[in-house]
Amino acid sequence: MKSPPNRETILVVDDVPNTVEVLQRNLSSQGYTVLTAPGVAEALSILEGTPVDLVITDFKMPKASGLDLVRHVRENLKDTEVIMITGYPSIEGAVTAVKIGAEEYLAKPFTDEELYAAVRRALAKLHARRHDARAALRAAPACYGLIGESPPMRKVFRAISKAAAASATVLISGESGTGKELVARAIHYSSRRSAASFVPVNCGGIPEGLLESELFGYVKGAFTGATESRAGFFQAADGGTIFLDEISETSLNMQVKLLRVLEDKQVYMVGSSRARRVDVRILASTNKDLPALAKAGLFREDLYFRLNVVTIVLPALRQRGDDILLLIHHFAKKFAKESGKPVPSFAEETVHTLTGGYRWPGNVRELENVIHSLVVMADSDTIEVSDLPALLRFSVPPRPDLTRTLAEVEAEYVRNVLASVGGNRTKAARVLGIDRKTLREKLKVVENRAQS
Ligand SMILES: Nc1ncnc2c1ncn2[C@@H]1O[C@H](COP(=O)(O)OP(=O)(O)OP(=O)(O)O)[C@@H](O)[C@H]1O
Ligand SMILES: [Mg+2]
Repeated sequence: MKSPPNRETILVVDDVPNTVEVLQRNLSSQGYTVLTAPGVAEALSILEGTPVDLVITDFKMPKASGLDLVRHVRENLKDTEVIMITGYPSIEGAVTAVKIGAEEYLAKPFTDEELYAAVRRALAKLHARRHDARAALRAAPACYGLIGESPPMRKVFRAISKAAAASATVLISGESGTGKELVARAIHYSSRRSAASFVPVNCGGIPEGLLESELFGYVKGAFTGATESRAGFFQAADGGTIFLDEISETSLNMQVKLLRVLEDKQVYMVGSSRARRVDVRILASTNKDLPALAKAGLFREDLYFRLNVVTIVLPALRQRGDDILLLIHHFAKKFAKESGKPVPSFAEETVHTLTGGYRWPGNVRELENVIHSLVVMADSDTIEVSDLPALLRFSVPPRPDLTRTLAEVEAEYVRNVLASVGGNRTKAARVLGIDRKTLREKLKVVENRAQS
């Protein structure tokens, strides 16, 4: 009987060709897509380029052990499960495998049914986890991982909801590290396009000569090396959203081509003169002042106007008031969980320094990195000001002592004035703007305080 197709991809890793063959045949018969590798190194290179749902690996192999593979998967691939096969009765090997993150282990010899059952259990766990992740996203529809309650952030959240309901092009601007990409994701995932792809393109990171073929794809023979046609980011985003990150980094020549896509909703693959329709929403970001660049002739004004139908301006972290406290706790929790440590607390002085006069030029990303390293390096439960990087510690003025009463401040002032006039009470009273009798009473308070 033919099983219904399972679309999951399984990677089988074993040095014994016969075992690999049997597993591949059996699992393929169940409808899984099966990839194979004769060792850990080969498996790693497959995992680098191909999404795999489940890895089934032998424990004992001549070069690297299956445990190394389990460890690699657990540390780097959140969305992949592992089953370890132990070839001879090595219960310790199995226990270690499970401890470091294998979902299951199978002791040889095992029956086909045992294999299928283990695979089904591991994949069921994977699906449950994916489902939870999606539910968590849905639970906070307005935020999508964006923390903030300050008035400028509330304004951003309102703008995200409006942009999600519309289909216009959106320009997201803000200093580096303020969350432009998160906002773009939030718009896509709360829009009606959310089931299709969100495709971010780092315009500044792709060499000028490659950008066009990366964006629009190319046809076979378009240039030397183009041995077959390949789709570009726009085709990959069909039905979904493309995010042109750092749009100001594109050349004027490229800007003309982007303008054409915006106007006609069509792309030309490199090497082809045939226009192809694409249904893609465009979001763009910049940390530059685009109108100024346009004035200087470095950015096409017509493209700027096309992009700027809706603009969302992200506030700098230093303009976000108490959000910085929320973010500190959010990141402390996140990184403590990731590194398996208890959530640290922050000494009052530490909080004062983090929220004080430092300008946070790298915004949320910089804060995130600072908290990450504090959590990882912390060896006590409380993070002291001395744990902070020097740059931060020395950028904040010392806090005035705000614990004294008005009477204490006054007493100190009266004493200082009296000392400055050599103890002459008449002169002191004149400086203080009070009469001698009042001065006498105040001095009594000063003396009493000094005694008590
Ligand atoms: N409001 C926020 N709440 C939680 N995390 C945030 C927030 N804003 C930004 N971050 C985090 O800060 C980091 C930087 O955000 P993001 O990459 O979206 O910024 P960016 O503006 O695109 O930066 P750049 O200009 O450097 O590309 C990310 O790790 C992101 O998750
Ligand atoms: Mg970015």
